Amino acid sequence: MSYLTDHYRAASRATKALPEVPGQMMSEVLEKVCVQRRSLLRGGLGATFAAAFGGSALLTACGGGDDGAAPVPGTDVEAANYDVTFKAVRAVVGDNVVVPEGYVAEVMFSAGDAVVAGSTAFAGTFLTAAQYEQVSGGNHDGMHLFAIDGVDPNQGGLLAINHESPDMRVLFADGTYPASPTVDDVKIRLSSVGVSVIEIQRLASGQWAVKADSTYNKRYTGNTVYQVGGPAKSVVGDTVVGTLNNCASGETPWGTYLTCEETTDNYLDPTQPETGYGWVVEIDPQGVLPATKRTAMGRFDHENTAYLMDADGTLAIYMGDDSTPGCVYKFVPSAKVNTSNRSANQNLLDSGKLYAAKFNADGSGQWLELTQGLNGLVAGAQDPGNFTQFTADAPPAPVTVDFNTQADVLINTKAAARVAGATLMDRPEWVSVGPDKRVYCTFTNNGSRKITDAANPRVTNSHGHILRWVEAGNSAAATAFQWEVFLLAGDPRLVAENLKGNINGDTFSSPDGLGVDPQGRLWVQTDASTSSGTTNTFGNNSMYYLDQQTKASSRFLVGPMGCEITGLAWTPDLKTFFVNIQHPNGTWPSNVQGNSLPARSSTVVVRRTDGKPIGA
Ligand code: FEO
Ligand code: CA
Ligand code: CA
Repeated sequence: MSYLTDHYRAASRATKALPEVPGQMMSEVLEKVCVQRRSLLRGGLGATFAAAFGGSALLTACGGGDDGAAPVPGTDVEAANYDVTFKAVRAVVGDNVVVPEGYVAEVMFSAGDAVVAGSTAFAGTFLTAAQYEQVSGGNHDGMHLFAIDGVDPNQGGLLAINHESPDMRVLFADGTYPASPTVDDVKIRLSSVGVSVIEIQRLASGQWAVKADSTYNKRYTGNTVYQVGGPAKSVVGDTVVGTLNNCASGETPWGTYLTCEETTDNYLDPTQPETGYGWVVEIDPQGVLPATKRTAMGRFDHENTAYLMDADGTLAIYMGDDSTPGCVYKFVPSAKVNTSNRSANQNLLDSGKLYAAKFNADGSGQWLELTQGLNGLVAGAQDPGNFTQFTADAPPAPVTVDFNTQADVLINTKAAARVAGATLMDRPEWVSVGPDKRVYCTFTNNGSRKITDAANPRVTNSHGHILRWVEAGNSAAATAFQWEVFLLAGDPRLVAENLKGNINGDTFSSPDGLGVDPQGRLWVQTDASTSSGTTNTFGNNSMYYLDQQTKASSRFLVGPMGCEITGLAWTPDLKTFFVNIQHPNGTWPSNVQGNSLPARSSTVVVRRTDGKPIGA
């Protein structure tokens, strides 16, 4: 959840008596009080599976994390050295993207840029509603690079990019949504969320660019009509207008894109029923299969998806609910993935079991099945509410919830998880599955936690933490797992014990984006407060490499003023990384592009000038 989402939906939540979402802004206040004066395995199955689908679909490894891309046999990937040797960059507060010596970070795709072939880009003059529907949305977030038949995936592909919320300066005068919006104003704001699919290509210069005339280039927006699948279709309806708050994302083994709606509160278009939002939406980057909301995967403030797949095609898709607090989920489809027929998987995500995680104090864990009739999910169930945010002597009053059908469970997934006894976590953000099948999840912060547990060990958790777990038998179908706290974020220079953390090396706050690459290397991106109370300690939001054995942290990239770093994709040879810079608020990227356009969310391409793999 970016602070902009909190801001944009605050009024809507207030009218519905929904609780305030205390994210980084509250953390910031607390931190100001406490801060000292300061000077300031490679995946074996992936290639096999890619071969089974032909060249078109799969770049993903068996432990196919959110953006996992398997090395391509027979290329120089196998021979390359991926040991991490880059010289870490310092924590800084400038208005640029800073990368290590020998690297470049080049702007490729910004809010308002042309998407659909022949469309008019925003170049300083506001566009019509119809024109905005064809250009890039705002607040670039999760993304994934898909291969195209017949195209070397290290030289080009289809990049699907989420847009969490609008870049208002690109849409409206003074960057302000009109107090009395016209019909077109409503459409314009809704055009700026959703997904962009763009064909990109590596140029002879080594730079990357959007292929402007590609027929693959397409927008999915808050005005687009989506199909509905799964058990809650009976309530939601056959179709829904719009996707909203498209935060992070993931991919499926059959080469589709899962865009995650990070709100159940339809604050952008209150004319539409709220049950239509808060789902995972499956989009085919090739534009063949219809875009469909998959209700079997639950309705909550979805962050991203990441999958683990067994050799027999049994699939588990992990998901976090970025709520204060929220639970961790996994969805196991009833059928196995068909590895030889892409279209056979078209509705695989409409039927299966949804589970929520219970993290026990002894390091064991259980997946609690959220099926009507099980685990207390019956009529008259008592929802204990978000009790971790209250003192033990003054808990919230339980609320009666009737789970009469599976649709009831899915539409009210958060309550179902609480009733079943799942652990309330400190804002689950990204999940990623490594080639070794270990699963990592970021918990960005929870400045208002009052009751702790082993998996959320700090009250007033202003800086967040990272957990990892392994499934029993390393199987996607497991209902038990073993977990551990991987890292507590913070900085030892901070006074209060619960703000210090235990990072070994470059410190950070509020881990959010996260990805284990196909070489098993762990990358983390941050979404900490951007006010000076935080940036004086940690610098601007950044991206880090974390050694999974030593837990050493090395800062790889620092973003410009006001931004969150989120979104990570890569080419199979790992020589090109794509990173999103969300909601910058200084002069970037116009200060490097040499124009006078407002600050805009953008995708940057990170590569080495010597052409070697990133990080090594
Ligand atoms: Fe859109 Fe939870 O970050
Ligand atoms: Ca966040
Ligand atoms: Ca996020």
